[in-house]
Amino acid sequence: MARSLDAYHDSDRVLRLAAETFFDHLSEMCEGILVVDKSARVVWVNDRWQRNIASLGFSSLDEIIGLPVEEVVPNTLMHHVVETGKPILLDVLENKAGTYLVSRFPLHDESGAVIGAVGLILYDQVESLRPLVSKMARVQNELVQAQKELARQRRTRYTFSNFVGNSERALEVKSRARRAAVLNTTVLLLGETGTGKELIAQAIHAASTRARHPFIAVNVAAIPETLLEAEFFGVAPGAYTGADRRGRDGKFKLADGGTLFLDEIGDMPPALQAKLLRVLQEREFEPLGSNAMSRVDVRVIAASSVDLATLVADGRFRADLYYRLNVLPIRLPTLRERPEDLEALCEHLLEQIALEHEMLPKEIDRDVLEALATLPWPGNVRELRNVLERACSLWDGMRLTMDAFRAVLPEIDAAAVRAGSPRAEEPEVRAAVAQQAASGSEEVDAGRHGTTGGPPVVSARPSGTGEPAAGAATLPERIAALEREAIREALRATGGNRLQAARRLGIARATLYQKLAEYPELAASPAGNAA
Ligand SMILES: Nc1ncnc2c1ncn2[C@@H]1O[C@H](COP(=O)(O)OP(=O)(O)OP(=O)(O)O)[C@@H](O)[C@H]1O
Ligand SMILES: [Mg+2]
Repeated sequence: MARSLDAYHDSDRVLRLAAETFFDHLSEMCEGILVVDKSARVVWVNDRWQRNIASLGFSSLDEIIGLPVEEVVPNTLMHHVVETGKPILLDVLENKAGTYLVSRFPLHDESGAVIGAVGLILYDQVESLRPLVSKMARVQNELVQAQKELARQRRTRYTFSNFVGNSERALEVKSRARRAAVLNTTVLLLGETGTGKELIAQAIHAASTRARHPFIAVNVAAIPETLLEAEFFGVAPGAYTGADRRGRDGKFKLADGGTLFLDEIGDMPPALQAKLLRVLQEREFEPLGSNAMSRVDVRVIAASSVDLATLVADGRFRADLYYRLNVLPIRLPTLRERPEDLEALCEHLLEQIALEHEMLPKEIDRDVLEALATLPWPGNVRELRNVLERACSLWDGMRLTMDAFRAVLPEIDAAAVRAGSPRAEEPEVRAAVAQQAASGSEEVDAGRHGTTGGPPVVSARPSGTGEPAAGAATLPERIAALEREAIREALRATGGNRLQAARRLGIARATLYQKLAEYPELAASPAGNAA
């Protein structure tokens, strides 16, 4: 009759019994057991293990008993277990016979000395798991890559050192922006297109305590009005049927802990202005289709290329929101206001261009620099960069001369005359300037107004500079010219109101915005850019 466990008063015996039972179960469950002696020679294998004899290249049990284990089982670590006395609880063993999940324990005698080791084959169908394991590894890898890419996109590219310029105006911008970085307040960046608003916004974020959190940029003008609210505040699960059933986070949520950059804030529709004001005041908002408030900790940096005060005066922008945003305004100077920075900017931009195109940076002749400094640059630093990039790609020499610029910047000769360059005195140059003046070009005027601080004047220069005269223009060039003219006219007629201009032109506001990005000189027109 079986005795109950209480009958075993000797705890050593209980333990031994437990070990024996455990071993019996293990040998039942596992796919094979192998035992080696103190010198790691095979002394015993169980019945199941014997299935492996043939695939290991032997014909009978007798052949393997007494052999060093590594001669029987390639890649085994049983001899290590014997040498170190330490178990290897879980391992994958691969050899010519297959791939196995194994476990190895040292064998002790009564005194505790290692006298051999036991190896267990826990599972011999590892091969069948391979597709699953590699699929999981691939998915895991893709996830890591996607997370890295997202983090990279949300990290800012710029710091204050990227804002080039030592003019008084440039230094003032940097000093105000540095102060803004430590203050954690709302910041308003005002300035014409291409003056570096986004660059400064990124630099403020990078220098703030929020730097390790996301920087999320939204261009209010580029998003269709009907989608803006969802884009900003997100959509609650189940708010719509269909694609958005699971709900979607808005930009405020994505920027939590970090910075939200609201570009072209002047284009925000009134209903949304009210909601934004509320987030700025209460730090909470309601996602679309939800009746629960979401709380966020976000610093807002807003930017505008139109003068918000004028929009407020015209009743197109809420005064209370304007005051809320205007806590720390920073005005980005135009390039015309800081011609003394032109040389450093050119050097910096030429280095950037060289890096991007994997070539050596080109240099600019002094007379060219002087001529460039007299131009109005309606598209500011962005326009300067485009011009330099085009000149670099068309000119093979290492020095960019007046000739290098003639193809991309037809007004360079007139500019050289203004700059008083000696080369401008050469007869053929004078003739070119005279001809340009006679053709009624506005460019000379534009430059003069620009540098004397008068109202900015639209440059008549087509965006695709070097464009042939109308008679010789290709069809796409003529269409582009017509398009530019229509947009310029619409902006003029609507006092720079892009929404009204888009309606007048019969196109979506977002489309107009795209066009303005293609023709920066239009975005910088006096009407479109009162800042
Ligand atoms: N001070 C500067 N130093 C170096 N690069 C500059 C500077 N200002 C602008 N840039 C460069 O000019 C380009 C335009 O800058 P950015 O996009 O910041 O201008 P923006 O004011 O946001 O223009 P927009 O209103 O058209 O969006 C970028 O390539 C930027 O790196
Ligand atoms: Mg911008």
